[in-house]
Formats: sequence, C-alpha cells, structure tokens
Amino acid sequence: MRRKNRRFDDDDPYILKRDRRAPVVVDPDELPETGDRWSTWDEAEHGPHPRPDWLVTELAAVDTELGILKTGKEADVHLLRRGVPDTERTCLLAAKRYREPEHRLFHRDAGYLEGRRVRRSRENRAMANRTGFGRQMIAGQWAFAEFAALTRLWQLGTQHGGVRVPYPVQLLGTEVLLEFVGDADSGEAAPRLAQLRPAGAELADLWRQLVDALVLLARVGLAHGDLSAFNVLVHKGEVILIDLPQVVDVVANPRGPAFLARDVSVVTKWFVARGLPDPDPGKLTALLLAEAGLC
Ligand SMILES: Nc1ncnc2c1ncn2[C@@H]1O[C@H](COP(=O)(O)OP(=O)(O)OP(=O)(O)O)[C@@H](O)[C@H]1O
Ligand SMILES: [Mg+2]
Repeated sequence: MRRKNRRFDDDDPYILKRDRRAPVVVDPDELPETGDRWSTWDEAEHGPHPRPDWLVTELAAVDTELGILKTGKEADVHLLRRGVPDTERTCLLAAKRYREPEHRLFHRDAGYLEGRRVRRSRENRAMANRTGFGRQMIAGQWAFAEFAALTRLWQLGTQHGGVRVPYPVQLLGTEVLLEFVGDADSGEAAPRLAQLRPAGAELADLWRQLVDALVLLARVGLAHGDLSAFNVLVHKGEVILIDLPQVVDVVANPRGPAFLARDVSVVTKWFVARGLPDPDPGKLTALLLAEAGLC
C-alpha cells in the first residue's frame, strides 16, 4: 500500500503530477450555464508564442463537445468548440484524448522509447508493471510527447516555413487540444492524404511539400516515425503532418535511421501507386540521413 502514498519528486513534469490527482467531483452548480465544461485553459500547459489570433484564451470561455472526429488505435479525437458565451469569440479545436494502455495497441512502445532518457527507475517500474499509476503515466507521457513534438515543429514551421502541423493549443493530463484543421463552418475535418486521388501537377506539388517537410525534420534530427498517407492531412492544398507522439530522434535512437527509412518507403509507395514518376526512396532516405548529419 506504500505505493499509493508515494509522492512525486519536485522535478517531475507538472503534467505527470497533475495526473496523480484524485478525480475531480464536479459540483453541478459550478458548471457553466451553456457548454459542457469551463475552458480548461487556465490549468493547462500552453502552446508556444506567438499565439494565433483565433485562439480563445479568455477564462470566461466554455467548452462544448460537438462529437467524435475519429476513434483511433491509441486515442480518440473529438471536436470541441471553445467560446465566450454571447460573444463572437469562438474557435473549433480537435481534442486528442489518449487511452490507457489496455485500451490501445501498445506493441510499438519499446522500440520508440529506446534512446529516450527516462530518468527515474520508480516510474519505469510502475509503467512496466502496469499499475494504475503506471498506466496513467504511459497515456500521459504519449500526450506529453505529442504536445512537445508539435510545439517544436510548429515553432520550426513559423521560423523557417516548410513544415505545417496543427497549432498545439494546450496539454492537460492525457488530453492534447489542437487547432482544428478543416472547415470551420461545417466542422468537417480536412481529408487525410489517403482519402484523396490527386494526379498530375497536384500530386507532384503534394510530394514536393512532403519532401520539404521531411527535410526540415531531418535537419533538426527528427523523423515522424509513423508516417503514412493516414497521418497527413491536406487542407486547401497544404500538407499538414499529424499524429506525432512517436517522433523519433534519428541520432539518439539506435533504430532512428530504420524508422526514417520506413517513413520514406511507406509514403513513396503511396505516391508511386498514384502515378508519381520516379520518386526514389533510396535517394530520399540518403538525403534525409545526410541532413540529419548521419552520413
Ligand atoms: N488537428 C486536427 N484537425 C482535424 N482533424 C484531426 C486533427 N487531428 C486529428 N484529426 C483526425 O483524427 C484522426 C486521428 O488522429 P491521429 O492520427 O492523430 O490519432 P490516432 O489515434 O493515431 O489515430 P489512428 O490510429 O487512426 O492513426 C485523423 O486521421 C484526422 O482525421
Ligand atoms: Mg494516426
């Protein structure tokens, strides 16, 4: 029973401490008159500056659940409206909620986590033994990893262009709130690349954008790690990378180059099948490894 009383060390990430709290019992009198909850902005870790103008940060805002965008292997993505009641201040957000491990496919964890430094053996043991605390830690860590990766890539994109990811709005426990990519009026999400049948110049343009994004990632030593036509959205002709919790440090992870090569191989096959002439996966992999400083 000692485990129950364990406390976090002071240098534990804030987010993980938060996960340890007892579930909050909500007093119905404390719910907003409209919407499903008060905005959680105040208690969450915030996304990077400069913040987009559309973002609603007012504490008087409420969140309204508009439904599920997609249930996935590891998380469910919900559509949320955050707005200040009786005003025009409103925005749509995608809420990606990670499930605890028993509700998701977890076979990839070991390989991806190689080369990532996890400091304390106590947390490692809890995760390995799948205690309740360990399970929440794992889900929280994936949310944390995705928020960190999106923050880094969003900043890279604003500074250098060449890579687009949804703006990471906030992180709270196992939930990451993201810029909703899609039609703000209908609430329809942008299509995944896999749903499209581009040809000719459009196909070539999407390929060019994807290669530019991969080059930029490689320059900072990263590979997506689970790249496929399902993890790329296309919005108004623009390629947007999503689903980044497993982003791979190509240099520190001994399997980094293999993950990078697999990313290239998967997307190249898709573009070849759509009729793009001559994309060469070997050459692209070599270029990206060189950009990452590996050969
Ligand atoms: N920011 C966003 N804006 C709009 N739609 C989104 C956004 N993020 C995710 N989605 C939708 O939710 C789906 C699942 O997102 P994501 O790939 O990040 O989660 P996942 O749990 O890994 O899902 P899967 O197992 O299907 O890969 C996406 O394919 C996309 O349709
Ligand atoms: Mg996905």
